[in-house]
Formats: sequence, C-alpha cells, structure tokens
Amino acid sequence: MKYKRKILITGGAGFIGSHVVRLFVNKYPEYLIFNLDNLTYAGNLENLQDVESADNYRFEKGDINDLSLVSELFHQMQFDGVIHLAAESHVDRSIHNPMAFIHTNILGTVNLMNAAREIWNDDLSKRFYHVSTDEVYGSLDETGFFTEETPYDPQSPYSASKASSDHFVRAYINTYGFPALITNCSNNYGPNQFPEKLIPLFIHNIKHNKPLPVYGDGNYTRDWLYVEDHALAIDTVFHHGKTGETYNIGGNNEWKNIDLVRLLCQIMDKETGMPENTANKLITFVKDRPGHDKRYAIDASKIKNELGWQPSLHFEQGLLLTVRWYLNNHEWLQRVTSGEYQQYYDKQYRGRFES
Ligand code: NAD
Ligand code: DAU
Repeated sequence: MKYKRKILITGGAGFIGSHVVRLFVNKYPEYLIFNLDNLTYAGNLENLQDVESADNYRFEKGDINDLSLVSELFHQMQFDGVIHLAAESHVDRSIHNPMAFIHTNILGTVNLMNAAREIWNDDLSKRFYHVSTDEVYGSLDETGFFTEETPYDPQSPYSASKASSDHFVRAYINTYGFPALITNCSNNYGPNQFPEKLIPLFIHNIKHNKPLPVYGDGNYTRDWLYVEDHALAIDTVFHHGKTGETYNIGGNNEWKNIDLVRLLCQIMDKETGMPENTANKLITFVKDRPGHDKRYAIDASKIKNELGWQPSLHFEQGLLLTVRWYLNNHEWLQRVTSGEYQQYYDKQYRGRFES
C-alpha cells in the first residue's frame, strides 16, 4: 500500500508514546506508523497489544543512539515526520544516574536529527516534533505560570538533559533551517505509566498495603493532564503547529501533592471496597527529593488560541479511570513490578523513611 505519510515515533512503547501510537494508528489508517523503541525498563510492548497487528503499524527494537541503525531506517523508510518521545523520564532516577539521561535525552536527540537531516536536506515540508517537559523552566513560587517565553532554568539532571535537547533542537532550527517544533508539557497521568511515578506508585503501594512516601511536607504543586489529552494535543500540534515554534501544553489543573494523594486514597478506598480512611493511614512523610521543584503551572493559552486544543477530562474523572485501569490490569502491574523493580524501589527509598 502507498501511504500518505510515514511517521517515525520514538519511545512508542513507553507511557505517553503508547497512547500516541494507538491514536495515530487508529485515526490515520492512511499513515504508516513506525515505532522505534529499545524497550528499557519503561518500554513495554504489552502497552500496544491492541494495535500490534494493524496493517499500518511497524515496530523495531533499537536505540536512538545507534546512528547506523537510525540512518538506515531513514533511508529505507523515507519517513517524512518524526514524533520524538524516547527518553529517560524519571527525575529520581536522574539523581542516581545522570549519565543515562545525557546519553539518551541529549545525544540520542541530536543523533536522530542528524539522521533526519541526511535525507531531508532541511526540506520544510518535513516535520521533526520534539516532545519536551515544563520542567525545563525550573520552579515557580506560589503564583505565576510558565509561558513559552519563560527563561530556561532546569534544576534536576533530568530537566537539564531535556533543556539541553530543546536547545539543540532550536540550534538546528536556527542554524540549518531544520523543520522542527517543540512542545513542553506538564505532568501526565493515566494507564500504562510505570509505577515509579507518583500516581501509579501510590496505587500500587495502596494495593499492597505499603507506606505512601510523600516527599518533604507534601506541599509541592504539579499541573496534571490526562495522557489521552496529551496525545490529542500532540496530534493537533503535529498537524497544525508552525515549524520553528514552541507550544506549552498543560491541564490547567494544579494540585498540591498531599491533596492529590488524599483524593487518590479516597478513590482507592471506594474502588477496593475498603472502609473510609483506610488508605490515608499509609501516608508517610519522608525525606525530600534533593533539589525538589516547588511548583509547576502551565499557561496553555497559545495552543488554545492558535490551534484550538484544550484538555477535555476533569481530574476526578481521569483519576477514577486511572485507578480502575490499574485495578483491572493486575497482571500488567504484577509483570512490570517483578524482576528488578524491588531492587529499584529499595535503593530509591532506602534512607528516605529514616528521617
Ligand atoms: P517513559 O519513560 O514511560 O517511556 C520512554 C520510552 O522511551 C520507553 O518506551 C523506553 O523504552 C524508550 N527509550 C528510552 N531510551 C531509549 C533509547 N535510547 N532508544 C530508544 N528508545 C528509548 O516516558 P514518558 O513518560 O512516556 O515520556 C515520554 C516523553 O514525554 C519524554 O521525552 C518525556 O521527557 C516527555 N514528557 C513526559 C511527561 C510525563 O509526565 N510523563 C510530561 C512531559 C513530557
Ligand atoms: O512536569 C513534567 C514531568 O512530570 C515530566 O517531564 C517527567 O517525565 C515526569 O516524571 C514528571 O516529573 P515529576 O518529578 O513531577 O513526577 P513524579 O511523579 O516523579 O513526582 C510528582 C510529585 O510527587 C513531585 O513533586 C515529587 C512527588 N513524589 C514523587 C514520588 C515518586 C512524592 O512525594 N513521592 C514519591 O514517591
């Protein structure tokens, strides 16, 4: 079949990537969707079982740092678009092992752009979409929002690596006229998220009657967005965004961690048939994350006004869907938390409970 477009999605077996792959495979049968992912601990082909046999879907296990593989794929497949999501994504892991973040997030991104440039010759009809984070802007006090003009001020090794990759993308746009654009999104939640991040970790711990390690005093604020809303924003920007531009994506949905955790506990009690205030008792304030950013909040008016995207799901609804998904997908949770997970958890949280 002759496809209208051939799109490379990197990191498509991860949390957000799997939702983007599913959306594109189902919504655009006229596109070929090619997923390149090296299946780290966070990549899981189970996330894509429902689309894996679709005619317009291909998967290749491979590293974005492998220049010969990536160049060969570009030559062979003649991609005309890239949606780049592959990354090391967890802040706490970046504190323990920054090199992996430098390797994948910075070098991997530059490698991909080099491979694209070899065959695109900076043709403006092509599109390289770099998916990034609001963490590049640093931390806010009690008031104010991140806009696309907020100066970069990354505070963790993770956000420094993402900021660096964003700078490289802009440098390629500026220097070579490379046809790229960037989005910076707030915290995502929903099905398929690896249970190292706040919401799925706490669901997992409540299920197993384990303590819920709230960092510091819990008065840290994040802006939460349901992952399918993010995938729809990516679809909108990929098709209608302007080359060279940056768009912030957010949920307009700020929560202090401790309030979010209390709401999650209430929902878990209800959904598991436990008496009220059961899960709450597991809340344990632990030693803080070093360099913990106080507050993130996104001003998403540019994407709303220029491209017409806005979040569709209320947080309570999204959280309920998320809880139900994790409770109904016991085997998924079991499998991803078997193997090395326990060692990771012990290493990450050893010492935190002692303060
Ligand atoms: P994730 O950790 O769930 O998935 C990352 C995926 O990338 C995995 O499938 C992994 O196997 C793959 N990968 C990692 N290194 C690779 C390499 N060297 N080569 C090929 N594949 C590799 O991450 P996520 O939460 O889905 O985040 C996806 C992207 O969105 C990242 O770029 C992240 O910075 C960004 N982002 C995430 C959030 C969030 O809240 N999760 C918010 C804003 C932006
Ligand atoms: O803002 C976008 C970013 O959101 C993405 O770029 C990252 O990839 C993604 O991981 C996420 O980063 P955070 O550090 O904000 O997410 P995390 O789920 O790790 O933590 C959310 C908040 O909860 C944060 O303030 C730290 C706190 N926390 C987290 C964990 C894992 C706890 O209090 N206890 C925990 O055990």
